[in-house]
Amino acid sequence: MTTTSGNKTAWKHEALYTALRAEIGEALRPHDPLPSERELVARFGVSRATVRQAVGRLEEEGLVYRAQGAGTFVADPATISKSLALTSFSEDMRSRRLTPDSRLLDLTLVPAGVAVARELSLSPGAEVAHVRRLRLADGLPMCVEEVWLPTERVGELDAALVSGSLYDVLAERGVRPHHADQVISATVVDADQAALLGVAAYSPALRVDRTTYDGTGVAVERAESIYRADRYDFRITVTRRT
Ligand code: GLP
Repeated sequence: MTTTSGNKTAWKHEALYTALRAEIGEALRPHDPLPSERELVARFGVSRATVRQAVGRLEEEGLVYRAQGAGTFVADPATISKSLALTSFSEDMRSRRLTPDSRLLDLTLVPAGVAVARELSLSPGAEVAHVRRLRLADGLPMCVEEVWLPTERVGELDAALVSGSLYDVLAERGVRPHHADQVISATVVDADQAALLGVAAYSPALRVDRTTYDGTGVAVERAESIYRADRYDFRITVTRRT
């Protein structure tokens, strides 16, 4: 009995979610308001809880955003939002219905410099793989990304391996990014980054520095990503402490 009603609720959630997603792609434009909770309840014959669940899922995927007291609106796909989940670039783009791709710019084994060694808790000079890639979304430049990986912890890499998702390669080796310390700051691109990203030199960009750890707290990657500010933003939900 419980299972049947549980299935029914899940089915209704899925149907509503799919209908809203289609509406967002067709009838609604960026920043248009989503129909109100009450309207959706009446139109689809579902409970408020189901509406909240479906809209919550759209929000998690960055397809809609909430404005305090004003309602829920269709997100602008030109600016990509990101949740607090630790995701790879590929996952991040796919959740926006964009196809991720990479152009390899450099893959070399180098001795860790002082800063990278400190972040990865390695002795300075320990061997790390340096991977520099231009990351694309639907064929358009999104980000220039440099990653340093301790070979003693993640193994050797080659060009074929880093042509797709690095996190998938790590997972196949049993190295699972679990949490990360991340700093997001404003910057401008230098001439080289500007040429790669297809923007003018000194254009604004978002810089994301990430040190990623596995489930045991061992650092497995240090990454510096420079995102085009006109194509990418971060959206997070913050909760007031009571
Ligand atoms: C994001 C992170 C990087 C990480 C990359 C992996 O861009 N900022 O730290 O290396 O994702 O992405 P993928 O698995 O698509 O190669």
